[in-house]
Amino acid sequence: MSARVFLIGAGPGDPDLLTIKAHRLLQSADVILHDSLVDPRILSLAADHAELVDVGKRCGKHSATQTTINKLLVSYARTGQIIVRLKGGDPMIFGRATEELESLAAANILCEIIPGITAATAAAATLQRSLTQRGVARSLHFLTGHGAEGGLPAHDWVSLTRTGGTLVIYMGSQTIAGLASHLIEAGMSPTMPAIAVENASLHSQAITIATISTLPNRLGRPLGPTLLLIGEAMASEEVVALTTAQLALG
Ligand SMILES: C[S@@+](CC[C@H](N)C(=O)[O-])C[C@H]1O[C@@H](n2cnc3c(N)ncnc32)[C@H](O)[C@@H]1O
Repeated sequence: MSARVFLIGAGPGDPDLLTIKAHRLLQSADVILHDSLVDPRILSLAADHAELVDVGKRCGKHSATQTTINKLLVSYARTGQIIVRLKGGDPMIFGRATEELESLAAANILCEIIPGITAATAAAATLQRSLTQRGVARSLHFLTGHGAEGGLPAHDWVSLTRTGGTLVIYMGSQTIAGLASHLIEAGMSPTMPAIAVENASLHSQAITIATISTLPNRLGRPLGPTLLLIGEAMASEEVVALTTAQLALG
């Protein structure tokens, strides 16, 4: 039996960065349960008859709880229609995919997963900078900047400063001041290169090039989704951040 439920990564925003498989499935879906931040141009790929259900979280607005989303997904899946659960970036990175997959599995419903381009690789493309670099950054760490109860997450800050790799922080724009203090207190050099990329892959993309000590003041309050990249591989003199005009953005 093949799946009729598809957990799909919508990528960072630019519709051209969807996979061909994601594009095809969006066109054949009967129901699309999507996050709020999914670009409207991606949703417009849906068939005319498709039902679009916004289940995502948006700042300052009440959204469905994860439990409600899980139940909704299962009840739509039981209708036998083609159901797409569409999430930003890659669904398996800070996407709470496990809860949704477990709910479907508990109901004996097959689900196929279609990966998407995650914000980290989209930001690296924007910066024209590899996240790993021979002799400079031998590892790559994806972290959340946001604890389950709000505020800072309980990372092992000392270990993070010792990795010698690139730290990529999702959901960290509101907590950057605390993140920077913890990293510096744990031993990171205050001059460690740190870059924020807002709305990677979109016309509205904005880049802030700083150090770990200056980023909190330089960043302000971004309006769009923002990724923080920290480490020697982000050294500013080597970062080639092309202007929007030079890039073929979505
Ligand atoms: C809940 S996480 C989801 C991550 C997503 N699954 C992925 O793989 O990119 C949301 C965070 O991803 C980052 N993000 C998502 N899209 C982005 C974009 N286009 N530009 C910069 N950061 C982005 C931001 O840090 C945002 O707060």
